[in-house]
Amino acid sequence: MVKKLLSVLGGEAASVPPIWLMRQAGRYLPEYRALRAKAPDFVQFCLNPELAAEVTLQPVKRFDLDAAILFADILLIPHALGQKLWFAEGEGPRLEPLRDAKDIAALRYDGEKLAPVMQTIRAVRGALDHGTTLIGFAGAPWTVATYMIEGRGGTDHETIRRWAWEQPESFARLMDVLVEATSAYLIAQADAGAEALQLFESWAGTVPADLFERAVLAPTARIVRAVKATHPAIPIIGFPRGAGSWLPRYAEETKVNGVGVDQMTDIASLALSPRTARQGNLDPVLLLQGGEAMRAEAKRLVAGMRGKPFIFNLGHGVMQPTPPEHVADLIATIRAA
Ligand code: CP3
Repeated sequence: MVKKLLSVLGGEAASVPPIWLMRQAGRYLPEYRALRAKAPDFVQFCLNPELAAEVTLQPVKRFDLDAAILFADILLIPHALGQKLWFAEGEGPRLEPLRDAKDIAALRYDGEKLAPVMQTIRAVRGALDHGTTLIGFAGAPWTVATYMIEGRGGTDHETIRRWAWEQPESFARLMDVLVEATSAYLIAQADAGAEALQLFESWAGTVPADLFERAVLAPTARIVRAVKATHPAIPIIGFPRGAGSWLPRYAEETKVNGVGVDQMTDIASLALSPRTARQGNLDPVLLLQGGEAMRAEAKRLVAGMRGKPFIFNLGHGVMQPTPPEHVADLIATIRAA
C-alpha cells in the first residue's frame, strides 16, 4: 500500500487529505518542553539522535498525523560549513555573520558533523507505523544565506540584498556553496530513509523580482536535479513563503513535486499543473484561536481543494502558545469533513 502523503505527492487526489503541520514538534507541546529542559544547547539537542528521534515522534504519538517531520533545523547547514551558530535564550538564532568574499571562501562543508541527523532518521523510520511518512528537510539557499549574512532573524534582509546587488559574483559563489552542501545533505537524508523532502524558502518574500531567478529559482532547481539524480523517486516539496505571483513559475522551473502555500495566497485558484501537489494553508492564528472559526475555515479549505492533489497543512509553523487540544480538534474536523 502506498502511503497517503506519497500518493498525493505523486499527483493523486485523496478523498480525505493527508495532514501534517509545519513545526508540529516544538514548544507548544509540554512533552517537548520537558525534553528540551534537559538539553540547554539547541544545536546539540538537534544533533542528539536519541532526543531528536523522540521529539520527532512526539506529535505522531499524540495526534493522528500522516507524516512525521525530522526534528532538526535549517541552520545546521551553516554549522556544518564551519560558521559559528548559537541560540540565545528568547532571542532566536545568532550566527557570526559573513562579511566578505574571504569569509565565503573559508566555508567548508563537513557532512560528518551532520551524521547524527542520519542516525535520527534511521531511528524514526524504525519506529513509525506503516501509514506514516517521514519527511526530511533543509532550508533553501536564499533563506539560509539570509541568516548567514544578516547573522540573525528579524531584519529586512538589507545587508544580503545589498550584497546580492553590489557583489553578484561572491553572492553567486555563496549560492553555489549552499546548493552543493544542501544537495549532499538531502541525498544523505534520503539514503538514511527519509521518504519525502521539504525545502523551506521561508524568506522568498524579501527577494526583489530581478533577483528571484538567481536567488530562488535556479539554486532550488539545481538542488532538485541533484537529489533526483541519485533518488529519482523521492518527492520534493518546495515552500517559497511569500512568493505570491511567483508560485506557478516556481513550481514549473524548480520541478518540485509539491508546493507549500502560505496563508496570504488563494490556494484553490493557483494555476499549477494538475499533478503538482498543493500543501497548505490554514492561518496558524486560527489554530492558536481554535473553536468554530478554525473548524469552519478548515472545512472550507478542504472543500475548495476537493479533486486536487492536496495536503492539509498550515500557511506557516504552529505558533508557540497554541493549545495542543486545538490540533486534535483540527485533525478530527478534517477527517470528518
Ligand atoms: O516540527 C518541525 O517542523 C521540525 C523541526 C524544525 C525546527 N525548525 C525546529 C525548531 C523545522 C522544520 C525548522 C525549520 C526552520 N528553522 C525554519 C524554516 C521554517 C520557518 O519557520 O519558516 C527556520 C527559518 C528556522 C530557523 C530557526 N530555528 C528560527 C528562526 C528559530 C527560532 C524561532 C523560535 O521558534 O524560537 C529556530 C529554533 C527552533 N527550531 C525551535 C524549534 C522547535 C525552537 C527552539 C527551542 O526549543 O528553543
